[in-house]
Amino acid sequence: MIDRCGRNIDYLRISVTDRCNLRCIYCMPEEGVQHVERSLILQEEEILRICRVMAELGIRKIKLTGGEPLVRPGMPRLVEKLKNMPGIEKVTLTTNGVLLKDQMRDFAGAGLDGLNISLDSLDADCSRKITRRDELGRTFGGIEEALKYPEISLKINCVPLGIPEQDLCRVAFLAQDHKVHVRFIEMMPIGIGKEFRGVSEEELLGILGKKLPRFSVYEGEPLGNGPCHYYEVEGFSGKIGFISAVSHKFCGECNRIRLTSQGFLKTCLQYAAGRDLRAVIRGGGSDEELKAVILEALSEKPDGHIFGGNLEKQKEDKTEKLCMSQIGG
Ligand code: GTP
Ligand code: 5AD
Ligand code: SF4
Repeated sequence: MIDRCGRNIDYLRISVTDRCNLRCIYCMPEEGVQHVERSLILQEEEILRICRVMAELGIRKIKLTGGEPLVRPGMPRLVEKLKNMPGIEKVTLTTNGVLLKDQMRDFAGAGLDGLNISLDSLDADCSRKITRRDELGRTFGGIEEALKYPEISLKINCVPLGIPEQDLCRVAFLAQDHKVHVRFIEMMPIGIGKEFRGVSEEELLGILGKKLPRFSVYEGEPLGNGPCHYYEVEGFSGKIGFISAVSHKFCGECNRIRLTSQGFLKTCLQYAAGRDLRAVIRGGGSDEELKAVILEALSEKPDGHIFGGNLEKQKEDKTEKLCMSQIGG
């Protein structure tokens, strides 16, 4: 699918649930989370139907996200069905890893291509402060288990918050001895993220530069389907990556659209623009009708985000009011 800006859209990010077993301070409020009623969440058959139609339109890569995708039962089975779908080449998962250990073997059997695990700090106290839960041990368990399957590419996602206890260098050093890429994500002003300043790539390069061995820009084969750019570090097994949506806007190369757990097709992370595919499906729409609605949404895909733009203007315009956990990142 080519959009109005000439971008080839072949990557679909699917949020399978808005629920999460953590409460990261920049993503979800501590109390009073309003969960979507289960009947409004897409059923597996509905997700598969949308994916089949999307594959016919040119989607080749699928990312499963949440909330936390593993709180939804049956994820390995969903991966397997997507992997067997004509046209779909890659299926990856982004998780906080808490529930991963026991399911890892099933994911490997299902043919999962890649796994991204969110880990903001290796320090137990700091992790508790950020996630508002005491689950670092189980996330480690998930990472250890995932490392047993070298055929599945493994990445760590870390969102720097500008607090020294987070010890970002320690997180980066995970890539020294393990075949894992460590990626630092600039805080995006979406949902509660608007209340945090985060750390820019430039600041972070300064921090990492003091402790890491020499590093240089990685120019080899792409390491995924997303907007991350990577550095090679002398003596490290994995790479260090940066997803710098604020300081290095990458909307010009955007290759993706998103499906929320309620079946809303979002064409840009920061805008509410899109179409309700659940309404088409549950209203008895045919595959052809579904395709037409998807293409209509695509024809209105925004040029890009306006992070750092005028906040007053953003309030009155059509920017997204959902939290990151409802969008799926
Ligand atoms: P791979 O590199 O293929 O593993 O995928 P990915 O980096 O797209 O996946 P992941 O789910 O780990 O996302 C990492 C971060 O990138 C999250 O914080 C996402 O919100 C962010 N991200 C992904 N797509 C976009 C996008 O279109 N715009 C912006 N601004 N951020 C994005
Ligand atoms: N800005 C940047 N990244 C975020 N994530 C959640 N909220 C934000 C935000 N406001 C990250 C999570 C996870 C990934 C899917 O998105 O930490 O790693
Ligand atoms: Fe859950 Fe991810 Fe949000 Fe943390 S960032 S609360 S793990 S959805």
